Amino acid sequence: MWGGRFAEGPSAIMREINASIPFDKALWRQDIAASKAHVTMLGAQGIVSAEDAKTICEGLDRVAAEYEADGVPEDWDLEDIHMTTESRLAELIGPVAGRLHTARSRNDQVATDFKLWVRTAIDQTDDGLAALQRALVTQAGAHADSIMPGFTHLQTAQPVTLGHHLMAYYEMLRRDRSRLADARMRMNESPLGSAALAGTGFPIDRDVTSAALQFDRPTANSLDAVSDRDFALDYLMAASQIALHLSRLAEEFIIWASQPFGFVRMADSLSTGSSIMPQKKNPDAAELVRGHAGRVIGSTTALMVTMKGLPLAYSKDMQDDKPPVFEAAGLLALSIAAMTGMVADSTFNTNRMREAAELGYATATDLADWLVTEADIPFREAHHITGAAVKLAEQKGVALDELSLDELQAIDERIDDGVYSALSVEASVAARASYGGTAPEQVKQQVAAARKALGLNDGATA
Ligand code: ARG
Repeated sequence: MWGGRFAEGPSAIMREINASIPFDKALWRQDIAASKAHVTMLGAQGIVSAEDAKTICEGLDRVAAEYEADGVPEDWDLEDIHMTTESRLAELIGPVAGRLHTARSRNDQVATDFKLWVRTAIDQTDDGLAALQRALVTQAGAHADSIMPGFTHLQTAQPVTLGHHLMAYYEMLRRDRSRLADARMRMNESPLGSAALAGTGFPIDRDVTSAALQFDRPTANSLDAVSDRDFALDYLMAASQIALHLSRLAEEFIIWASQPFGFVRMADSLSTGSSIMPQKKNPDAAELVRGHAGRVIGSTTALMVTMKGLPLAYSKDMQDDKPPVFEAAGLLALSIAAMTGMVADSTFNTNRMREAAELGYATATDLADWLVTEADIPFREAHHITGAAVKLAEQKGVALDELSLDELQAIDERIDDGVYSALSVEASVAARASYGGTAPEQVKQQVAAARKALGLNDGATA
């Protein structure tokens, strides 16, 4: 394709290091679509004849059909998907194929193809997150009243509801989806027609190709357009944040499924056994989601470092943009699917969770709050009195509400038997009815709002 000024062909090493076809063949659909949009515009503008444009379009359809049926052939001499397609087109339709590359370069071509690919990845990631959100709100709705210990420092802090806990992840994913939408909006400008770096002297119509490929508008600066990979980085940064959230959720399941916790029984379909310990059921899917987050974040770092310090416009380093994006998108899709199944198909041991919530003096804050509200004691003093009660209960090996009224009054005589109504875990969660709090009523409202936002019919549970 470029041999005109060369006396010798490339060495074997040159061919191997140069070839991107082993991975960029994943762009074949985008490459065909962009080529068809380009040549159709060339025909409409009279830059190639209408007949040639038609012949080329039909030829591209034939190449696409071959790729669909047999896969994309990998010939290192043809370097990449762009030259592979053009060369096959020439074999199929003859020298007229050579008119396709008028008024474009592989530099605007690859930027266009890759943007189209990333745009689809954004849409697919968003669909996956919506499915995971649906699974979360469904379980949250079913467990709006299920009490579990809430933790800080992974130490029992205050009782919360499982519904509230799951809805926290709904919120994370809501922000993630807004990051994706933001990235999509910003990236959706067509580089096609920027040519090698400076634009072209041919009378092309960039608005036409932009619209044909569902871009919002053409890019405004050709140098930027061929060297911009922000769109891939925006996607990877959003993907990293998503992977990070998924790994936190995965970690919760790993902890909850451990025997000392026993909060959740994961579906067999997402667990594995041990070849030596027959009793084992391991949360491998969750552990791999936790692990994959490292690789997704690593992909982001890889592309950032590739782009750092590159002068305008295109440099071949940029060919290395694709593997990290492909890898991250693949790992992320799998991770989202695994977590969706895990959330939807796990069985929660609500008795066990409730028992755990009663351990660890989780309602100590409720005692302090009661002293403030009912006995008009300043919170700092109430905190101190409560500390003494916890200490006594700990010494006796009993729960707070198992201390007798005499014992409590010996600590502070202003305590009366009204306090017991505040010390149950039910009373504790019901009291936390501030907006966004863990009270079942609040959780139900948040679930209802989320169901509406997700377009789920009210009353339905799935
Ligand atoms: N395979 C190349 C890439 O992925 C296409 C662009 C090549 N452009 C060039 N001037 N060599 O970046």
